[in-house]
Amino acid sequence: MHPLHLRSVGTSLVISTHHGEAEITHWGADLGDTLPDPTILNEPIPPSSIDANVPAGLLPQASSSWQGRPGLRGHRYTDGVPGFDFSVRLRLVSATSDGNSAVIVQADPDAGITVTTNLTLHPGGLLELRHSVTNDGTSPFQVDELATMLPVAPDAVELLDLTGRWCRERHPQRRAIQQGTWVRTGRHGRTGHDSSLLLAAGTAGFGNRHGKVWATHLAWSGNHEQFADNVADGRTMVGGSELLGPAEVVLQPGESYTTPALFAAYSDRGLDGISEAFYSWFRSRPHHVGAASGKARPVVLNTWEAVYFDHKLDTLIELAESAADLGVERFVLDDGWFRGRRGDHAGLGDWYVDETLWPNGLTPLIDAVTSRGMEFGLWVEPEMVNLDSDIARAHPEWIVGPSAVSYKDGGRLPLGWRQQHVIDLVNPDAWQYIYDRIDALLSENNISYLKWDQNRDLLEHGHAGRTSVHEQTLAAYRLFDALHAAHPGVEIESCSSGGARVDLGILERTGRIWASDCNDALERQTIQRWTGMVVPPELVGGHIGPTTSHTTGRTHDLSFRAITALFGHFGMEWDVRSVTGEEREELKRFIGLYKEHRGLVHSGRMVRADVPDESLMVHGVVADAPTSGATAALFAVVKTRTGFSELPGRVTIPGLDPSRTYRVEAIFPAPGDADYGHTFTEAKPAPWLASGAEASGRFLAEVGLPMPVLNPEHAILLRFTAL
Ligand code: DGJ
Repeated sequence: MHPLHLRSVGTSLVISTHHGEAEITHWGADLGDTLPDPTILNEPIPPSSIDANVPAGLLPQASSSWQGRPGLRGHRYTDGVPGFDFSVRLRLVSATSDGNSAVIVQADPDAGITVTTNLTLHPGGLLELRHSVTNDGTSPFQVDELATMLPVAPDAVELLDLTGRWCRERHPQRRAIQQGTWVRTGRHGRTGHDSSLLLAAGTAGFGNRHGKVWATHLAWSGNHEQFADNVADGRTMVGGSELLGPAEVVLQPGESYTTPALFAAYSDRGLDGISEAFYSWFRSRPHHVGAASGKARPVVLNTWEAVYFDHKLDTLIELAESAADLGVERFVLDDGWFRGRRGDHAGLGDWYVDETLWPNGLTPLIDAVTSRGMEFGLWVEPEMVNLDSDIARAHPEWIVGPSAVSYKDGGRLPLGWRQQHVIDLVNPDAWQYIYDRIDALLSENNISYLKWDQNRDLLEHGHAGRTSVHEQTLAAYRLFDALHAAHPGVEIESCSSGGARVDLGILERTGRIWASDCNDALERQTIQRWTGMVVPPELVGGHIGPTTSHTTGRTHDLSFRAITALFGHFGMEWDVRSVTGEEREELKRFIGLYKEHRGLVHSGRMVRADVPDESLMVHGVVADAPTSGATAALFAVVKTRTGFSELPGRVTIPGLDPSRTYRVEAIFPAPGDADYGHTFTEAKPAPWLASGAEASGRFLAEVGLPMPVLNPEHAILLRFTAL
């Protein structure tokens, strides 16, 4: 049988079946129209080894002598005794391809197991892969793991993954690929602050815009593992799986379990090519929000760092008036509006507007907001409950724990986290109560937006005494889906103590993620850069916080905070009533710049320069015209700390059309404000900064422009327009 060959912008995926099972024999560069006979890749058989070729299967299996991480781990209960059918031998049943998609069915009739694999290579080069295992037997089959993984070429010798913590999400770490397995495990019951948004293997020293890279992302918001597995024969697989708890998935006869999707991209032009594949997929979705779908992303004012729990109608109306004056388009009332919520110790679960704070409901505030032309958004945390709440007192059995009975009846309660616990959405009554409350709020009030928070890990998470993170994750997804179906016009933001739920599972259901509770622009530069590896800027919330950051104590100029927020879905989280005089004018100017450039930033190609000076970050967004190349771009040159040399020297601007000439202008600082703030230290800035300049894309990429001696934690903003 001929191999299946899926192709898309520079990428080929070849699936061969000549060993009797499906194996991916190539995932990487486009191979053109013709392929040789697949047996060309049959390996020699080394001494003292199995007497056959060992395929790196689509679902690698011990029955083919694969010695690395197996695709399927599980066993059957026969007459109630576990441990049977532990080694499934899947053989190909069918392999069909329809354009850029393929469906592969493999089965082991003796073990009573069928696995169906769905693969799609999307037009922008992003691969989507899922397995589904079905129990065809007559007794229960326990799935311990069903992993999605792909082989990478032998020249992938380095790994990059991301890690973090609260207020420092998604920072990179790198290592060489060596024999053995590098595993990133998430046991948070949610995606996690430390979760690796992507795991990338690449050629030596691969960077932003050079080297070959093979990257994977697991689209799941519960427990999970991502891994790179280099086996003794030298082959490397990268992938991930849902991390299942004890007997969490036991398939009765006829039942199936489907993995989360593994998304994967190959690039021969460094990490920027990986982002292009992900962005292209996001922007092709019919429900995508952003410039690509014609929906401009509104300027946001979020009340959290402005007032925290101190909700007073007069203050909030003043804040709304001040926001409207600035040009804000969406006003989001954060935590503190519902019954009993005067701090973070009480009220979660009682999703009724607090009658003492809001005797006339939310309507007076909503009217104040909407009458000034802004949308109204509301904060909720539907999956959580405080013990000090009416709902917890009425239904202690709805509070998740490891025991079969409620904590009121002697069961154990997991340790508190921000004084809160998790509501058992696997319990249909609890799910319905939460659905009904949020549905009522949305039906009774003019709410356009929900900021959906999730402020704790799911620890010792059980339903009726059995582990249930898997079911809880699916039940939470159902809640998002049902509320979205009932209120399709309401956009939902995924927040989780900042950025602890950032993954493509939740992003199928939400229009924005809150990348971090850290509004410190310096920290945000790194957080947004690596979040933006996968998630396009129109979906990544970025706010101008107070002058002195509430989470780090650092003080930054408004320009640095604003230029950082401009490259996301822009907003403010600041008591803007206190912003007066020149500072208010400057804030209005940046809001204007966002409105002017959001169409470009939210639809263009992300470019990150490989800058040898580690104290500089250069990134931008380039708008490509369909036939004539890049026509406009917005770049930030960011100084993160002091540099080694007296002069930063020339900084190259990659990613523009080499054959076109561009007009370059500094839009911050603009000519009139060359000595603005503390951005520079030099006596005389480079002349082009005030006068602008003209140069070809080739010149800008190869020679670059002399940069000003930027002070640390400052940035300049440059616009390039094709002439
Ligand atoms: C954590 C979020 O990340 C914050 O933005 C804020 O919404 C608080 N929760 C409210 O409790």
